[in-house]
Amino acid sequence: MRIPCVIANWKMHGSLISISALLNEIGIGLSCLAGDPSKVQIVVCPPSVYMNAVGNILAEQVSLKSIQLGAQNVYCESKGAFTGEVSPEMLVDLGCRYVLIGHSERRGQFLENDDLVARKWVASYHAGLTPVFCVGETSLERQQGKTFETLRRQFESVVEKMGADCFAKGCLAYEPIWAIGTGLTATPEQAEEAHCFLRGCLAKRSQAAAEEIRILYGGSVTPTTVESILAQPNVDGVLVGGASLQACDFLTICKAVIARV
Ligand code: PGA
Repeated sequence: MRIPCVIANWKMHGSLISISALLNEIGIGLSCLAGDPSKVQIVVCPPSVYMNAVGNILAEQVSLKSIQLGAQNVYCESKGAFTGEVSPEMLVDLGCRYVLIGHSERRGQFLENDDLVARKWVASYHAGLTPVFCVGETSLERQQGKTFETLRRQFESVVEKMGADCFAKGCLAYEPIWAIGTGLTATPEQAEEAHCFLRGCLAKRSQAAAEEIRILYGGSVTPTTVESILAQPNVDGVLVGGASLQACDFLTICKAVIARV
C-alpha cells in the first residue's frame, strides 16, 4: 500500500520566530486530530537556513515526531567549489529525508534544465534522500495540447539516467505551473488524468515501481479543494505551498489525507 504523503513547501517565507510558532500550532493540532497521523507521511520543507532549527524542533516535540524534514533544493555534487550550494550529503547530515527536485520555480526563475534536474535527482537518491520529482506543464502547453509531451519529457530525463526501478521509493509531484500560487487548482479530473499518465509511463518500464511510487498533486491546494483531489485513485497525497503557512489550513489538509487511510 502506498503511504499517503503531505508535503509543506514553505518557499522563502518565515522567520525563526514565525516558524517555531507555526510548528507549535501544527503540533497542538496534530495531537487533537482524530485518526493516526503516523499512518501518513507529513514532511515540512523550510528555507535552508532554518532547516537545522526546524530539525531540532521536530526531534524535541513529541507531537511533531512523525513529521519528516525536507529540503526545497539541493545541488548535484557531494562537495567542492560550488559557492552557495548545499550537497545531498549535507542535507542527510542535518536529518533531512526528502528533497524537492525540479520545482517549477527552480526551473523557471533559476533556469534549471532537465539535465541539471536529473543530476540533482541522481545525487539525492544516491545520498539516501527521497527525491520528490516535480513535473508540470505551462498554461500555454496545456492550451496547445502538449501536456503529456511535457510530462513525458521531464519524466524521461531522470529515467534515462537511472532506469525506472529506483522510482519505487521516490515521489513524483504533478504541479501544473498555471496552478501554482494562482488560486487555480486543477480539476480532480485533470489531476487524475495527469497522474494516470505518469503512472502509465512508469508502468511501461517497471510495473512494480509504478505500483509503489507516490504521485502527489500540487498547485493551489486548499482546505476547500483537497478532498476532491484526494478522492482520485491515482493521487497519493499533496504538495502544499501557500496553505501550508497557515496552521489551521495545513491541519485541515493533513486531516483530509489522514481520513483517506
Ligand atoms: P501553492 O504552491 O500551493 O502555493 O500553489 C505549491 C508549490 O509550489 O509546491
